Amino acid sequence: MLRRELAAIAALTLVSSGAAAQDTVKIGLILPMTGQQASTGKQIDAAVKLYQARNGTTVAGKKVEVILKDDTGVADVAKRLAQELVVNDKVAVLAGFGLTPIALAVAPIATQAKVPEIVMAAGTSSITEASPYVARTSFTLAQSSVPMAEWAYKNGIKKVVTLVSDYGPGIDAEKSFSDKFKADGGTIAENLRIPLRTPDFAPVLQKVADAKPDALFVFVPSGTGAQFVKQFVERGLDKSGVKLIATGDVTDDDQLNGMGDVVLGVINAHNYSADHDSALNKAYVDAFKKANGGLRPNFMSVGGYDGMNLIYEALKKTNGSTDGDKLMAAIKGTAWESPRGPISIDPDTRDIVQNIYIRKVDKVGGELYNVEFATIPNVKDPVKAAKK
Ligand code: PHB
Repeated sequence: MLRRELAAIAALTLVSSGAAAQDTVKIGLILPMTGQQASTGKQIDAAVKLYQARNGTTVAGKKVEVILKDDTGVADVAKRLAQELVVNDKVAVLAGFGLTPIALAVAPIATQAKVPEIVMAAGTSSITEASPYVARTSFTLAQSSVPMAEWAYKNGIKKVVTLVSDYGPGIDAEKSFSDKFKADGGTIAENLRIPLRTPDFAPVLQKVADAKPDALFVFVPSGTGAQFVKQFVERGLDKSGVKLIATGDVTDDDQLNGMGDVVLGVINAHNYSADHDSALNKAYVDAFKKANGGLRPNFMSVGGYDGMNLIYEALKKTNGSTDGDKLMAAIKGTAWESPRGPISIDPDTRDIVQNIYIRKVDKVGGELYNVEFATIPNVKDPVKAAKK
């Protein structure tokens, strides 16, 4: 380890106890506000602001101040920002994390400084195991991929090609979908991967056409689904008889309406749809749109909104104490009603437990939405559940 890094870690250990006495609780919000994942940053930032507009900026007698930093989607940048936020700003909580490598890069800092790391976006199963100070309000890819596999086999799909972004969440999606689909009796013709940063789908889409599966199962991260769909259509795969099935990251509410009628009928599984039928969600969508020039909230936004609620609830339970161990104890087992439905933080794994919905892209009031038609209640991360 570099001497500079060692010094930074020593400083982290020293400062972390001082924050408890202050009247302001600072949250360091690290998000990709620019770059390929900028839509995630924009959605979560907007949701955090909306949460505070609706719930106030004071909790348990403390003023809650959010310090937003742009990590540009780069892990090394996020790591430096996290160190600065802990050492200089003395934040009590680190939050955000739009990509898996970023959440993982910050985990050692959370451990050293004993500062909770609230993962509002990233979805690789192992992130919660990287530090005892990590808790997640987003989702895992296995949570949506396993129900998608089950639905597919039950509904006459027997042969599938999988296509995923080649990094943590994609590999989780590929494995959990394939394992479940094969266990049910299906055949995986091929597992295809594409790079995260420069996704050129043309070569793999040719392989899909050649393999002639009943369906193509896809995961690409939020913000890149429209690019994939465009190339799927350009290669003529929409007319080839290959059904498109996906995790809801692909038919992301943030981009869905712009994808066009080619995505009508696409079946996918996920934790949140802006079309979710509850009074709480309708009020959430209306307030979010009103505050953001008509922007439709996506699944990343609820990760941010619920992450703020988790921090507020934990602070209530600790009576405003920002001691990291007390906050983590308060976080474990917290349960509440989210715009996505009922959710809780598993006390054993610190990961989210939530409903997964099977959805079909359809028109509602002239716009494209993921319309939920089946619910798998209270899904724990299947990867961690299998280890027990
Ligand atoms: C991740 O990097 O963990 C990630 C990002 C975007 C998604 C899903 C997972 O939609």
